[in-house]
Amino acid sequence: MEHYIVKGGNSLSGEVEIAGAKNAALAILAASIMTNETVTVENVPDVSDIRAILKTIEVIGGYVEKLDRHTFRINGSGISKDTPVDNEYVRKIRGSYYLIGSLLGKYKKADVALPGGCNIGLRPIDQHIKGFRALGASVRLASGRVAARADRLVGSHIYMDVVSVGATINIIMAAVMAEGNTTIENAAKEPHVVDLANFLNSMGARIKGAGTDVIRIKGVSTLHGTNYSIIPDQIEAGTFMFAAAATRGDVTIKNVIPKHLESITAKLLEIGCQIEESDDMVRVVATRRLSRTNVKTLPYPGFPTDMQPQITCVLGLCRGISIVTESIFENRFKYVDELTKMGANITVEGNTAIIDGVEQYTGAHLSSPDLRAGAALVIAALAADDYSEIFDIKFIERGYEDFPEKLRKIGAHIEKIDTDEDKRNSCYASDNSDLHIPNRDI
Ligand code: UD1
Repeated sequence: MEHYIVKGGNSLSGEVEIAGAKNAALAILAASIMTNETVTVENVPDVSDIRAILKTIEVIGGYVEKLDRHTFRINGSGISKDTPVDNEYVRKIRGSYYLIGSLLGKYKKADVALPGGCNIGLRPIDQHIKGFRALGASVRLASGRVAARADRLVGSHIYMDVVSVGATINIIMAAVMAEGNTTIENAAKEPHVVDLANFLNSMGARIKGAGTDVIRIKGVSTLHGTNYSIIPDQIEAGTFMFAAAATRGDVTIKNVIPKHLESITAKLLEIGCQIEESDDMVRVVATRRLSRTNVKTLPYPGFPTDMQPQITCVLGLCRGISIVTESIFENRFKYVDELTKMGANITVEGNTAIIDGVEQYTGAHLSSPDLRAGAALVIAALAADDYSEIFDIKFIERGYEDFPEKLRKIGAHIEKIDTDEDKRNSCYASDNSDLHIPNRDI
């Protein structure tokens, strides 16, 4: 079974290049079919969630041409508006729900299977539906699909009851070609909301205020083709920043927008890291054992929930007692049991983790419960004093391009193993170790 073997204990050092933002790419690729002209999207990350949305676009009749590993030419003119979007790919990923907004916005009709994605809480879509209805669509949920249709979509004033990235993006897409003006209040301000708005504006949409909590949209009758490059991935960058901190390393993370990393940088400074920044890079240096802090996840510009497992795993090694409060999703501490197997001293009470830092983690058999938690367990394994095996890496591969390769480039001992043969040929076998990975409960 595919898994990673990690030999911990090396300080990471060197340079790593960050890919395009997965969550921005999901929205932008879904929006790329809203014109009948050709769209070229650059800096698309090569991860399984993105391959799934591209496959979905092809299955429903869109034309997808891969120009190079990260650049795609897409044409949505062949899409059949009457065929339900329901296939093995669409049900796998959260981002497939963006096809509801894009198809409804373009054809005034969408019938899309309900999204999959990480199991980190209930993840309702009531705010998406509220927005579509406010624009004049009728929306029905049946047989695991969302069916929305309208004779006309008409601009409206929509107040979001919760700050939702997905609902904000979906309502923007449904509103860009509606008649008249739409205002979204209490909108999400995440960098990928801004990226999606910039992308649509480059296609002729008229969206103002993305990045603030009030977004104003003037409907246009049609969108045209464009060339667009996706922003760097804030969460991938943050993950490498915490990997540097956990291993007392010195890592320069390139192709980033430092402004998007401010909440992460602030926490790393608080716990005792040194940070250097320039236009498109950030360097994280940790030379000693780090100190405790508290953190609460919040919508942007607050500390991202998608960085919560990574900071928890670093705080598990810091001096003193830290408190991490998860305020976005209700089921996002499942990985703590895995960290406990490594010797972490963490108690979870409701949406709060109380962390009494230990000096060292020890290697263990680990299972990734979801995408970001999986990456956090890799960080913990890199800091541990022994070998770890990490299973269910399909979750990690949903959102991290070349994760083991990038980590190896900065000095990590990590290998992807599929068969016993791989294991025998891995550098660990030739390390003269007996691969004495502790066989703890999984
Ligand atoms: C997106 C990201 C995910 C990230 C999350 C929060 C994608 C594909 N995924 O997920 O990685 O963790 O933002 O930054 O971009 N909510 C409702 N009703 C709704 C919609 C959301 O109550 O209709 C609640 C959710 O349960 C959650 C909160 O709002 O408690 C935020 O969720 P949301 O921002 O919508 O997350 P996603 O878009 O699913």
